[in-house]
Parts: sequence; C-alpha cells; structure tokens
Amino acid sequence: MTPPPRQQALTYLRALYDPEAANKCPQRWTWALGRGNISASTVHRQGRRMESVTLAVNGTERSLEVEPRTLLVHALRDELRLTGTNIGCDSSSCGACTVLVNGQSAKSCTMFAVQADGADITTIEGVADADGTMHPMQQAFHEHHALQCGYCTPGMVMAAISLVEEYPELDDQGVRHGLEGNLCRCTGYQNIVNAVLAVAGSGSDGSNQDRE
Ligand code: FES
Ligand code: FES
Repeated sequence: MTPPPRQQALTYLRALYDPEAANKCPQRWTWALGRGNISASTVHRQGRRMESVTLAVNGTERSLEVEPRTLLVHALRDELRLTGTNIGCDSSSCGACTVLVNGQSAKSCTMFAVQADGADITTIEGVADADGTMHPMQQAFHEHHALQCGYCTPGMVMAAISLVEEYPELDDQGVRHGLEGNLCRCTGYQNIVNAVLAVAGSGSDGSNQDRE
C-alpha cells in the first residue's frame, strides 16, 4: 500500500487519540489496521460506545468491555478467548454455540453479552475437572464415538448436559426431541443419542457432583 500523504497521516494520528475524529473518519482505522499499526481490538474500542459486563465464566469472574451489540458468543470467543464454543450459523439454527447460562442451555448467538451481565456461564472448557477428568457426558461421547469432525460437539455436549439434568429419565425419542435444536452436519445422530442415553440411564444427572 502506498504510504499516505502527510495530511492523511496527521488525520490518522489525530484519530488515534481522538475518538470523535475516529468516528468521522472510519477509513483511517481500516488503513491503520491494514498496515498492522494498531490491533483490531483498538479499532473496536476507540470511538465506540462500550458497556461494562461482568460474567462468572466457568467459575471465574470476568469483567470486560463490549459494544452493546456484541453477542455473547463473540464475547466468549473474541474477548475471553474461549474458542471451544463454536459458531455455525450466527442465526440460532444450529446449536454449535450452546453454553449454559445460569445452568440452562442457551444458544449464545441469540443473546447479547450485556444481557448476560451478572450471569453464571459455563462453556465446554468448564465442564471437565481441573485434573482433566472428563465430564460424564464428554466421556460418554468419547466411548460411543458420538463425534466425527467434532464441530457440533461442544454445543451438543452442553445441550445434552442441560437436557439430562432437566430430564434424568430420557428415552430415545426424548433425546432426539431435546436435542433437535442442535445440528450435526456429519449426521452422526445415532451415536450422539446413544451417548446421551448412556448418561441418562446411568442414574447420573450428568452433573459434576455425580463423579464424587
Ligand atoms: S451459531 Fe448459534 S445457533 Fe448456530
Ligand atoms: S460431528 Fe461433525 S458436525 Fe457433528
């Protein structure tokens, strides 16, 4: 890219320290970003209205600044670097982004991060024990070969944990109905159902306490 003329450089520098100028001159950010002069998060923050949000994520309180329009899934992935939660559609169709919000499964692309302010969030990174022992649902997915490419798996596991906690006595149809909001593009549904039934049939409600 041809270096900008002096006037452009001055405008850029002013924008860097003046959010108002940045708002009027968004192309300066694009230019600076393209040259690697500033980070994406700097562009994100400068000159835009931000909200403070506090989340208890996997048992740890996390505070972050987000735009009001930031989806919870983007806050988890981009701000907190919890990339186990996947994005499959961004439109609440696939369930790849499923997490637990106050113990209940929720598609994290369907809510804003500010809506989750003060909530307990559990992501796939938070379900195993600190020593690496897998959650019973993770173990069941492993033993029943309930994943192929694995893209749907974090959301599927989180939805299944919530489902078994809510309905410990599940049958085949109950599992299929309960997980109908989670899509597996590899279409490995039978083994997923088998894995969930194994946890449901074990007398475990799928919670961490069942391992103690
Ligand atoms: S990414 Fe959220 S439902 Fe598909
Ligand atoms: S295992 Fe590939 S999308 Fe489900």
